[in-house]
Amino acid sequence: MKISVIGTGYVGLVTGTCLAETGNDVLCIDINKDKVKQMQEGVVPIYEPHLDVLFERNIKAGRLTFSTSLEEGVSHGDIIFLALPTPEDEDGSADLSYVLGAAKDIGKLIKDYKVIVDKSTVPVGTADKVTQVIANETQVAFDVVSNPEFLREGFAVDDFLKPERIVIGSSSEKATELMERLYKPFVRSGNPIIVMDEKSAELTKYAANSFLATKITFMNEIANFCEKVGADVDMVRRGMGTDSRIGKRFLFPGIGYGGSCFPKDVKALHKSGKDNNYTFDILNAVIQVNDTQKTILLPRIESYFDGDLKGKTFAVWGLAFKPETDDIREAPAIYIMEQLLEKGANITVFDPEAMPNIKKRFGNTLTYANNMYEATKGVDALVICTEWSIFRTPDFDKLKANMSQPVIFDGRNLYDLKEVEHQGFYYSSIGRKTIAQ
Ligand code: UDX
Repeated sequence: MKISVIGTGYVGLVTGTCLAETGNDVLCIDINKDKVKQMQEGVVPIYEPHLDVLFERNIKAGRLTFSTSLEEGVSHGDIIFLALPTPEDEDGSADLSYVLGAAKDIGKLIKDYKVIVDKSTVPVGTADKVTQVIANETQVAFDVVSNPEFLREGFAVDDFLKPERIVIGSSSEKATELMERLYKPFVRSGNPIIVMDEKSAELTKYAANSFLATKITFMNEIANFCEKVGADVDMVRRGMGTDSRIGKRFLFPGIGYGGSCFPKDVKALHKSGKDNNYTFDILNAVIQVNDTQKTILLPRIESYFDGDLKGKTFAVWGLAFKPETDDIREAPAIYIMEQLLEKGANITVFDPEAMPNIKKRFGNTLTYANNMYEATKGVDALVICTEWSIFRTPDFDKLKANMSQPVIFDGRNLYDLKEVEHQGFYYSSIGRKTIAQ
């Protein structure tokens, strides 16, 4: 099939590349000339495991091409995906100007029947708006479909190629049939393609992300309470997670959820509620608890150093909002580091992938180490913000030799309490007892 993808951000790029992988002829459109040139030369503009291999293979096969021309995009694809940003507005709602702007242009350019797909995460009612905007510009027949993505950063290629489900919001048989044909190769395992109305599809995405964010936030509160009563959240998590109604996943407490989806989507659903005379009390609480959780390590660090962080030096391991990505959007590390700097502390950082992005944001206010051990040389404490695998089994002797004192504040519960105790560390983690030296 002939496919166009408008917008080559994270979602658009993964969508375009993976659709080319099953033999479709995919043209990706972006207004950024430099980026398009880069992609034409075979360079993937984001870090996402396995994407580079698929990218190269499909470019070589001639199935994946790039252009800055929306006109070309509209004439090329029988199905046109809108994978444009929907940034958070000041009031928490999703800003639809990119999506509706593209819809208007498509309306002006469309010459024959097309299926326009909302792939971006958009509030309930957006498919109707997109339809209206296009219809205002043209008499040509078209259908608008909502097809939310459920891609996790770091696993996006796998999630796209082997989805647990595909959700299609469509009220047109013709469009539904085309979409089912497109996705069939990805659900050969028998996973469902769930067809529903557009509004339900739009809400499914927000409901899924908000539910997961709530699940994590609930565990973060249980972890905080564990500390008050001397329980161990690791044990509670295991005890709970074996109940299949609850499930083992997304029960890991930490220093809050971050990234480009959860924070934005929870706020957008909350705002969407307000706009429709409904108050999501639960989401209000989730937003507040998560904001506090992001900086929960700070009072502990301050109390350990008797309230005076001026001139103290810290190593921070893990800057991305989660492992296997270079994405620092809403990363807890940012909030912690901003506060540490404000208190007069010095920070040396290390992250396997996110260093360039952090450098852009923090410049020379931080020191950048070449590896995880170098970051710990002479520091008063190590702060762990992201659970990259490389941090899971460090050489504790080397750490002790490097650090001016063996102190770890761990926001991701990476280490066994007995082990750090045996190694002689002061160790503070989330929802577990603090190991004092
Ligand atoms: C999420 C959804 O999983 C995905 O379906 C959607 O399309 C986009 O948003 P992503 O943001 O890439 O994906 O990351 P995810 O792995 O879901 O983690 C989100 C955040 O929750 C991270 O900050 C992570 O550290 C945190 N998290 C996750 C926890 O704190 N505890 C957990 O148990 C799981």
